[in-house]
Amino acid sequence: MLVLGIESSCDETAAAVVSDGTVALSNVIASQIDIHGEYGGIVPEIASRKHMEAIIPVTRQALDDAGVSMDDIEGIAVTRGPGLVGSLLVGLSAAKAMAFAADIPFMGVNHIEGHIAAIFLTDRRPDFPFTALVVSGGHTHIYLVRGFGDFQILGQTRDDAAGEAFDKAARMLGLGYPGGVVIDRLAKKGNPAAVTFPRAMKGSIDFSFSGLKTAFLNYIKGRKEPISADEVPDIAASYQEAIVDVLVGKTLKAAEDASVPRVVVCGGVASNSRLRESFFEKGERMGIEIFVPPPVLCTDNAAMIAVVGDNLLRDGKRDGFDLNAVSRWPLD
Ligand code: KG4
Ligand code: ZN
Repeated sequence: MLVLGIESSCDETAAAVVSDGTVALSNVIASQIDIHGEYGGIVPEIASRKHMEAIIPVTRQALDDAGVSMDDIEGIAVTRGPGLVGSLLVGLSAAKAMAFAADIPFMGVNHIEGHIAAIFLTDRRPDFPFTALVVSGGHTHIYLVRGFGDFQILGQTRDDAAGEAFDKAARMLGLGYPGGVVIDRLAKKGNPAAVTFPRAMKGSIDFSFSGLKTAFLNYIKGRKEPISADEVPDIAASYQEAIVDVLVGKTLKAAEDASVPRVVVCGGVASNSRLRESFFEKGERMGIEIFVPPPVLCTDNAAMIAVVGDNLLRDGKRDGFDLNAVSRWPLD
């Protein structure tokens, strides 16, 4: 079955064609980062407008790249939430219109389930059940995944998401938005033991990053001399290490406690090179298999949405044209 996926929950307009829920024939992503970067964060009104400009060309491109036409598409999967409602509505309305015109079914998909499902587009697919860490700009959640649509939450952040922690520190250092990827790059040249930052909530599977953010601010403000460019890599590496340490430690502990020795790591922050490296190192030591999609499938994309849609449509599920977007949509 060929499914067209559409994603517009945040600042990426994306469309993809996926075959049988396992092979991405195309995966087109139009990013708005340059525009929002000027404002230091996402401006919802601008995001909606940019989605409207991009949605049709991006969808056309996805069909062209896959070498198919709308006549070949058997169903449409679109992100329904969670996300910015104004942004979500652009993708949802486009998906409804296309489904109506082509007389094919469509399904609204949970964006977080999409991030987890991205792993099924790779050659190494985990068996159910598995433990999943979803780590992005808005989420830091550990789930026990028993099957498609069958989730139990094991741990979550009590305040900021890990992506936010990266972005806020980068902003404090004047490194621009989004900061995760810049910190990742700078940290490669730095010493992760140069500055000691706190690891919060030891002994729990929940996360908290607000204390780390405050510790970082205090470190910067408490300095006698201004931070020189030479020191930035050390600071970035130390801060990154504090985040990576808790993400890896708690997720592997959750997998061990649940007796599920398979861990999927996904979401934008899963692109982080040190996080990937640390998961594989520590996972191997603990006899836990680690599955991480390539970076292009970790950031927001529509192929991951099509995988979930494929499974729902195959089960005979269909949404009606009265389906609305939702800003919040807990997976469990
Ligand atoms: O999943 P995603 O693309 O969008 C959301 O649904 O939030 O995640 C975006 C987040 C941002 O906070 C960004 O800074 C972070 O992922 N990120 C990274 C890296 N690449 C993206 N964080 C750390 N290291 C990276 N290489
Ligand atoms: Zn996302």
